[in-house]
Amino acid sequence: MAAVSITKLCKRFGDTVVLKDVEVMVPDGAFAVLVGPSGCGKSTLLRLLAGLERPTSGSIMFGDREVTKLEPRERDVAMVFQSYALYPHLNVRDNLAFGLKLRKEDPAEIAKRVAEVSEMLGLSALLGRMPKALSGGQRQRVAMGRAVVRRPSLFLFDEPLSNLDAALRAQVRVDIRRLHRELKTTSVYVTHDQVEAMTLADIMFILNGGTVEQSGKPLEIYDAPATRFVAGFLGSPAMNVLDAVVAVEGERVEAVISDGEGQLRVALDPAQFDKLEHGKAVCLGVRPHDLVCGDAGEPGALPMTVTFTEALGGETYAHGELAGFPVVARLAATTLVQPGDLIHLMPQRLHLFDADSGTSLRC
Ligand SMILES: Nc1ncnc2c1ncn2[C@@H]1O[C@H](COP(=O)(O)OP(=O)(O)OP(=O)(O)O)[C@@H](O)[C@H]1O
Ligand SMILES: [Mg+2]
Repeated sequence: MAAVSITKLCKRFGDTVVLKDVEVMVPDGAFAVLVGPSGCGKSTLLRLLAGLERPTSGSIMFGDREVTKLEPRERDVAMVFQSYALYPHLNVRDNLAFGLKLRKEDPAEIAKRVAEVSEMLGLSALLGRMPKALSGGQRQRVAMGRAVVRRPSLFLFDEPLSNLDAALRAQVRVDIRRLHRELKTTSVYVTHDQVEAMTLADIMFILNGGTVEQSGKPLEIYDAPATRFVAGFLGSPAMNVLDAVVAVEGERVEAVISDGEGQLRVALDPAQFDKLEHGKAVCLGVRPHDLVCGDAGEPGALPMTVTFTEALGGETYAHGELAGFPVVARLAATTLVQPGDLIHLMPQRLHLFDADSGTSLRC
């Protein structure tokens, strides 16, 4: 097992810069998730880790071993892809054993490892089945099992769940988490699904346009996104973001949101944010669950006319506009609201970003 450290990694295909000065540090035994929108370079980064691509510059270390120029087979990694790529003419047992047989491992050892892994992944009853007689989730578990029997020092996963339906995705996600708890093998997992990223990651790296915008523990990033991009990427429904201008009048600091007709003013705490200069253009962010229903006339309450609602049973989303910006508030299911109702929203935790650079102004 080994830590992974990627330093100043760049990758170009011809003139196209795909990865730029990427820095990634994964502690030994950690489950790291690389998450970002389509085309941001996640698979390329994973292929560089596997040795399937060569970097333009930069270095990759597994523990204290530099692997930047090593061939894939010299790296001791196992990769699980989105497509299962099982051998269709081999049953589950032989699919699991294939790599070990190729390496001429002792047959007794092979049988032992296959038994262990199928037990771990709930495949024991399926060992005699052919791939075509398996469900999508079962096939993906066989594909994982094939990686696991090799006992690599690093697992790489490239969107392994994206071919599964929502229920199966949730189930196999739990399997992967449990598997990692048992094996404690350093893992790098790529996804564009923020829920997967939040639930699986010990440490998360958010990629955007070939660079890492933020890294850290999922809940810490969720709680204090470093950029507007990260703020909008994590969380569902997405954070509400409203364009505003800072107004400083003596001790009072406010974000003023206007739509030509009226204005809304939201008090800002100067102890929480830097660079609150009068007239500065900012983006004010507030998550749907940080907008709670208050009473009319309560200081700081923002009036919103509900345009439509989504009742999900456990909670209700109320949609509307604040000074012309679309806003969603997550309300308790017991709050009775209907389209046309006027509600008064009390913003709890605020986020503030520089309108030009998109970086957070949190101190
Ligand atoms: N061999 C290649 N030659 C040229 N461009 C490439 C090559 N491989 C990838 N790219 C480009 O690099 C960028 C990043 O691709 P990559 O596959 O790493 O994205 P991704 O984040 O995995 O996206 P997705 O979520 O859609 O899988 C894309 O713009 C892609 O077109
Ligand atoms: Mg990809």
